[in-house]
Amino acid sequence: EKGGYDYFMLKEIAEQPKAVADTLLGRIDASGTLSLDEVRIPASVLREVDKVVVVACGTAYHAGLIAKLAIEHWTRIPCETELASEFRYRDPILDQRTLVVAISQSGETMDTLMALRHAREQGAKVLAICNTNGSTIPRESDAVLYTHAGPEVAVASTKAFLTQLVACYLVALYLGQVRGTKWGDEIRAVIRELSEAEAAVERVLETMEPVRALARSLAEKNTVLFLGRHVGYPVALEGALKLKELAYMHAEGFAAGELKHGPIALIEQDLPVVVVVPSPRGRSVLHDKIVSNIQEIRARGARTIVIAEEGDEAVVPYADHLVRIPVTPTLLQPLVATVPLQVFACELATARGNEVDQPRNLAKSVTVE
Ligand code: F6R
Repeated sequence: EKGGYDYFMLKEIAEQPKAVADTLLGRIDASGTLSLDEVRIPASVLREVDKVVVVACGTAYHAGLIAKLAIEHWTRIPCETELASEFRYRDPILDQRTLVVAISQSGETMDTLMALRHAREQGAKVLAICNTNGSTIPRESDAVLYTHAGPEVAVASTKAFLTQLVACYLVALYLGQVRGTKWGDEIRAVIRELSEAEAAVERVLETMEPVRALARSLAEKNTVLFLGRHVGYPVALEGALKLKELAYMHAEGFAAGELKHGPIALIEQDLPVVVVVPSPRGRSVLHDKIVSNIQEIRARGARTIVIAEEGDEAVVPYADHLVRIPVTPTLLQPLVATVPLQVFACELATARGNEVDQPRNLAKSVTVE
């Protein structure tokens, strides 16, 4: 059942190109237009939406943080992403024009379910992004966009996360398409790029051997830090979460711009720091700022593990370890940047003798608060 792999997690990491392709299947037509007929919320209602709130937990929450950037960029609708467990206890302001997006692999997470019930009581429309057919969260939502990752058995989420990202992009692009924003040309270009994501993820998977070797060499470390900005920040959070769950190591993700506001005090000789570098095209200001961050932490002794686009030469002098990812549009970068972090955490867990598919103290589906 593990299809020749030692762990379900390895199998599920390898299945990601197909999971991404399956989640796109039938949703982009030949002319490059999105058709999400299954989203039964009428276009007239979607045109009236004046606020989007994304609620989720754990890894799904990280997908939601990326959704916020995509939704605000492509639709210009204000969007907040919140941990479901915080949202439901703070008396959030919602009404009929709020679209709540609830993201859940299992469809049974109690915190997310309670958040969506709360939202519907306030009159908001709820769209679920879910991987499990007929589970509670989609049943209680107004509409559902299913991810087609197939069953995810390993407790740590991998392929479900990538398909959640795809679904979030589809929702953001669809809202943009329905509402006809000024980003029309960009939206069409990104839809084309999205349909090539399968190949990009495949390419990353083919180059993971050095990442595995690096992970094994760090098995005795106690701490790993992760830095990112913009879409790279949720990717850093996700990389840190995978490492906590699987390797039981102290791992933290930071927004790189926050370094000077505190975290830089943690940098010491030989501390591994993973840096997710944004594309040098697009938001090039952010790229340059991150390159300065890498210089700063390296000058203080950090061992820099740099995840950067193919062709980004500016990072080369400051990278102790360089992991290349394919060139993608800025907002789609998490689809390729997350994969090395999953492989890294899985290999470190194995090197430390941990149970990869069943980490201690964790359950696959958290149906209690
Ligand atoms: C992390 C992980 C958890 C889940 C979280 C939400 O690898 O698996 O953080 O992402 O418990 O679960 P779902 O998506 O089923 O609501």
